[in-house]
Amino acid sequence: MAKTGVICKIGPSVLNTDLAELHNESQRLLDSGADYLHLDVMDGHFVPNITFGHPVVKCLRKKISDAFFETHMMVTKPEQWIEPMADAGVDQYTFHVEPCSDVLFVCRKVREAGMKVGLALKPGTGVEAVQQYIDQADMILVMTVEPGFGGQKFMKDMMGKVQWLRQNYPDLDIEVDGGVGLTTIQDCAEAGANMIVSGTAVVGAEDPGKVIATMRDIVEGSIQKCQLER
Ligand code: DX5
Ligand code: ZN
Repeated sequence: MAKTGVICKIGPSVLNTDLAELHNESQRLLDSGADYLHLDVMDGHFVPNITFGHPVVKCLRKKISDAFFETHMMVTKPEQWIEPMADAGVDQYTFHVEPCSDVLFVCRKVREAGMKVGLALKPGTGVEAVQQYIDQADMILVMTVEPGFGGQKFMKDMMGKVQWLRQNYPDLDIEVDGGVGLTTIQDCAEAGANMIVSGTAVVGAEDPGKVIATMRDIVEGSIQKCQLER
C-alpha cells in the first residue's frame, strides 16, 4: 500500500439481514462495532433487483439518530433521489458513474444537499471513469462483485484499481463492496482500501463483533505499516 493518512471504517451492508427487522438488525450491527451503515438502494433498472428507498431510510433514521448512513445508490437516475435522501437523513450519497450523464452536476447537487459524495464503479468500469472527478468526491467505491445481490464471490482482480487509487491518492477514502469477509479482507487491506463494506460475512456470523474487529485489525495493520514507512 502507498503511504496513507486515512483511517479504517467498517460499514456492514444490511442487504442480507431480515429486512422486516431493519431497525433491530441495524442496531445490532452498530452495537457490534460498525462505524457506519451501508444501505443498498436498488431500483430494478440499474440492477435486476429492488430493495428499499428513501421512505424506509427516513423511518430508520427516526429510530437511529446518531449513526453515519451511506446509501449505495444502484439506480439509473442518481439525480432523482438526492433531495429525498437528504431529507431522509442520509450522510453520504454514493452513486454509480455508469448511468450518469453529468457526474459533476450530481456531485454538486449532492454536496448542496448537505451530503458527502461517493462515486461507485462496477467491476467492468476502469478507474479512468472517475479520475477526473476525484477532486469532487469524498470517496471512491470499487465494487468487488457485480452490483445487485449479496453473497457473491469476491473479485480479486479488482484490487488493481484499489492499488492504483491508493498510490495516486494517498489520503482518499477508498471503499470495497462485495464478497468482503475474513478470507478476502487481507487482499483489500494490502491493496489500500480503508472503508470496508461487508454483508453476509458479518450478518451471517455467529459473532458479528468478532468479524468486524478482526477485519478492523487487519486493515489498521496495513495502514499503520504504511504510516511507519512514511
Ligand atoms: C451488492 C451490494 C453489496 C452487498 C454486499 O450489490 O452493493 O453491498 O450487499 O454483500 P456481500 O458482502 O454479501 O457481498
Ligand atoms: Zn453496496
